[in-house]
Amino acid sequence: MELPPWLCGLWALLLCVASCGNTAPTETQPPVTNLSVSVENLCTVIWTWNPPEGASPNCSLWYFSHFGNKQDKQIAPETHRSKEVPLNEKICLQVGSQCSANESDNPSTLVEKCISPPEGDPESAVTELQCVWHNLSYMKCTWLPGRNTSPDTNYTLYYWHSSLGKILQCENIYREGQHSTCSFTLTKLKDPSVDQYSVQVMVKDDAGKIRPSFNIVPLTSHVQPDPPHIKNISFQNGVLYVLGKNPQNFARTCLSYQVEVNNSQTEAHFIFSDEKLMCDNSEIEGNLEGTICFRVPGVPPDTVNTVRMRVKTNTFCYEDNQLWSNWSPAMTIGKKTDATLYTTMLLIIPIIVAGAIIVLLLYLKRLKIIIFPPIPDPGKIFKEMFGDQNDDTLHWKKYDIYEKQTKEETDSVVLIENLKRTSQ
Ligand SMILES: *[C@@H]1O[C@H](CO)[C@@H](O)[C@H](O)[C@H]1NC(C)=O
Ligand SMILES: *[C@@H]1O[C@H](CO)[C@@H](O)[C@H](O)[C@H]1NC(C)=O
Ligand SMILES: *[C@@H]1O[C@H](CO)[C@@H](O)[C@H](O)[C@H]1NC(C)=O
Ligand SMILES: *[C@@H]1O[C@H](CO)[C@@H](O)[C@H](O)[C@H]1NC(C)=O
Ligand SMILES: *[C@@H]1O[C@H](CO)[C@@H](O)[C@H](O)[C@H]1NC(C)=O
Ligand SMILES: *[C@@H]1O[C@H](CO)[C@@H](O)[C@H](O)[C@H]1NC(C)=O
Ligand SMILES: *[C@@H]1O[C@H](CO)[C@@H](O)[C@H](O)[C@H]1NC(C)=O
Repeated sequence: MELPPWLCGLWALLLCVASCGNTAPTETQPPVTNLSVSVENLCTVIWTWNPPEGASPNCSLWYFSHFGNKQDKQIAPETHRSKEVPLNEKICLQVGSQCSANESDNPSTLVEKCISPPEGDPESAVTELQCVWHNLSYMKCTWLPGRNTSPDTNYTLYYWHSSLGKILQCENIYREGQHSTCSFTLTKLKDPSVDQYSVQVMVKDDAGKIRPSFNIVPLTSHVQPDPPHIKNISFQNGVLYVLGKNPQNFARTCLSYQVEVNNSQTEAHFIFSDEKLMCDNSEIEGNLEGTICFRVPGVPPDTVNTVRMRVKTNTFCYEDNQLWSNWSPAMTIGKKTDATLYTTMLLIIPIIVAGAIIVLLLYLKRLKIIIFPPIPDPGKIFKEMFGDQNDDTLHWKKYDIYEKQTKEETDSVVLIENLKRTSQ
């Protein structure tokens, strides 16, 4: 039987359709529907979608999703996905459905939905928006103005975290040079089971002229403790013992320590941060809770040593270990030069020296006499012989002698004459 060529073609097509269906048992699903995106709080972005239309009844639906650039792939039965996103950049989610939780299952065609940053000139948004959680008691955020901003821009900072329930505005924004700063109270979490806990922060201006800027601050990092305090330092068997008090709110195991020792005599500057230097509680008498003890070898005793210490969070309890606390107040051990004594000495010494010089000048002549005995000075004698002052005397003496001699001679002449007269 001869079939017309067009019918043959149709037959082939039908065969193909049938065989294609048979050879692909992992039948690709229809795509999800009604994918939409919304923002809650400051920057909790929520994507929602509906199940695909016309899905196989035998299929237990799972949804495969990832963010743009194939990040954070996830397969879940829920028809929504959320993420805290600093909305400074566009972010997209792609979603597809599949019939199992198996990663190698072929999902349906992926549907994409994006959210764009708020409108406005990106150059107007504030930059370097950073926050540090101080002492687990307050959060301090700083930022720099954007490039296209007028200098009298009035900024507002909003913040949100899960235990607040609503968005709050930060009071008391102030400027420190180029930086603007605002701090708000944020105490330690009562529910430590929430580990994905963070604070959402947004900075914009009152007039709405700049583009809002966002930041998400994880509370497992960016923590700066208060400085510790040194309670006592002492030398025991030639080893320097430093006793410190932990800052409040922090357990000893969550902190790394640094001890600085400056020796005033050798001008040496040591920094110790070795955990091995920590001493047992038994090594120091009367050790109390919250006290930390260090034994620092190699510090010369009998000299003045100045000791300070500081702490930072460690990776046992926190995600970063970058922020050192300030230094504790310094404590000095050794023979201290009293500050008042030192200043008095500074004042008294020149006075004594000046007095001594005056006395020295006054008695210089006498001293000269003592130092240089007066006799062996031929110049002086020479000067005395021919000097003006003594000339007359000398002359007088000379004449005197001469006169005396003449007188004597005269006398003798007179005497002789007298004798002659008497003899005559
Ligand atoms: C998508 O949304 C529209 C309107 O909200 C609704 O009528 C429709 O049923 C939705 N589609 C699915 C598959 O749920
Ligand atoms: C669903 O699965 C059952 C059992 O595996 C099968 O008999 C039935 O034909 C399937 N239905 C469809 C629509 O694939
Ligand atoms: C996922 O599917 C692959 C092949 O499609 C199969 O080899 C693997 O065992 C499956 N894994 C699970 C957990 O079902
Ligand atoms: C650190 O936190 C504790 C307890 O929350 C508080 O008592 C202390 O005053 C705080 N320190 C500073 C410097 O604010
Ligand atoms: C900022 O506030 C001050 C005082 O309220 C006002 O004089 C100034 O014009 C404001 N700046 C802008 C850019 O609105
Ligand atoms: C410091 O420790 C030494 C040695 O334990 C002790 O003699 C001294 O009294 C302590 N000083 C203070 C102020 O606690
Ligand atoms: C210790 O010496 C270093 C380096 O000379 C100096 O930076 C530091 O301020 C000194 N510490 C104290 C407490 O004076």
